[in-house]
Amino acid sequence: MTVHATRATPPPPPPDILSPEFAADPYPAYRVLRAHYPLHYHEGTGSWLLSRYDDVERAFRDPVFTTDNYGWQLEPVHGGRTIAQMSGHEHAVRRALVAPAFRGRELRERFLPVIERNARELIDAFRGHERAELVDQFATRFPVNVIVDMLGLDRSDHDRFHAWYEAVVGFFANLTQDPAVAEAGLRAGAELRAYLLPLIAERRARPGDDLLSSLCTAEVDGTRMTDQDITSFVSLLLSAGGETTDKAIAGMFRNLLANPDQLAAVRADRTLVPAAFAESLRHSPPLQMIMRQPAEDVEVSGGTIPAGATVTCLIGAANRDETHFADPDAYDVFRTDLTTANAFSAAADHLAFALGRHFCVGALLAKAEVEVGANQLLDAFAEIDFAEGHAPPETGVFVRGPLTLPLHLTPAAPEPRS
Ligand code: HEM
Repeated sequence: MTVHATRATPPPPPPDILSPEFAADPYPAYRVLRAHYPLHYHEGTGSWLLSRYDDVERAFRDPVFTTDNYGWQLEPVHGGRTIAQMSGHEHAVRRALVAPAFRGRELRERFLPVIERNARELIDAFRGHERAELVDQFATRFPVNVIVDMLGLDRSDHDRFHAWYEAVVGFFANLTQDPAVAEAGLRAGAELRAYLLPLIAERRARPGDDLLSSLCTAEVDGTRMTDQDITSFVSLLLSAGGETTDKAIAGMFRNLLANPDQLAAVRADRTLVPAAFAESLRHSPPLQMIMRQPAEDVEVSGGTIPAGATVTCLIGAANRDETHFADPDAYDVFRTDLTTANAFSAAADHLAFALGRHFCVGALLAKAEVEVGANQLLDAFAEIDFAEGHAPPETGVFVRGPLTLPLHLTPAAPEPRS
């Protein structure tokens, strides 16, 4: 009998987040990073990767991790500084100008009817059909139509808005610094600003009941928004609220359809829709990563990140950290380690909206959109299945979600006439 000496298995090599294997499925690589390389300098992006929940959470909460990275990642494409880049008093004042529109009474009374109408119009277009492509016919249209309507812009320009926000998000998520992607983003940003400036002048002269007019007239602490503040903020809104929510809606339906028992439970008890959305944000966050830039040298997970370096916070990895979530790769609407009541606030257990002072301003709007959209789809169709019989793949490294979601639909029985 041969006796083999037991030797510790060497750790797998550090994964490359720009490799095709990573793009196909980043989750095994995230596991390797969390276990063996919790702080890892990645040559390809010239950034320090953080993958453990506690480290990413700290990077979002601790002010030493500034958002100065948005000086190169967002400012050129939005044509000015936005709240994403600001800190301290400046950030608090600008955020307070816009935040009320995205929560509470403003959201419920002023914008919920806009959300309901937009969902209905899109769903009506494929009612009575046996097939629909949820990404193209619904997810990529619904959130951007809502923002465009909220701002009081012309919805017939949908294709232009869509092309603009895709190019702008392309600039933001340009991990390889591809010059063609950067150029397309800058061109789109400039076109959007040229489109908006005459409209801003019009609304300043004759304010209406829309969010663009509110931005033109709002005042907090004696501060009003300049034209440039408004164009860069609208550009941020379209990109931050468009592509993320589009991927989130498609992602939630993909997760539910892949777990028919959970879909049946949500269909039977619609109060579970927010839990299904929160769990989808944890399991398949649309924004898989965001950057930070430490103001000083910082110690993290046994190493030091130098001041001024770029830190890539891997939300997709942190949200599947086994020390925080049991069986983290499972999509489970009923999990007890994710609190739905907090999931759309800065006290969330998942990191899909970040945490701390830059916590997503649109989280409650996204929740309202997903709840309305999901309820209307479930009401319109008695059965919804993958048209191809299986889940389509997810694509994207920075922003991730299904590129297409072809569905087979069985209409709901018409309501009996009374
Ligand atoms: C499921 C959909 C969404 C996801 C996953 C998402 C994700 C995020 C994340 C991760 C951040 C933090 C960025 C950072 O700290 O660097 C953020 C911030 C932001 N989001 Fe969202 N977002 C979503 C929907 C929306 C919507 C619908 C809007 C508005 C129309 C919006 C507007 C913003 C704005 C303005 C910020 C900057 C807040 C600040 O810096 O203070 N987002 N979002």
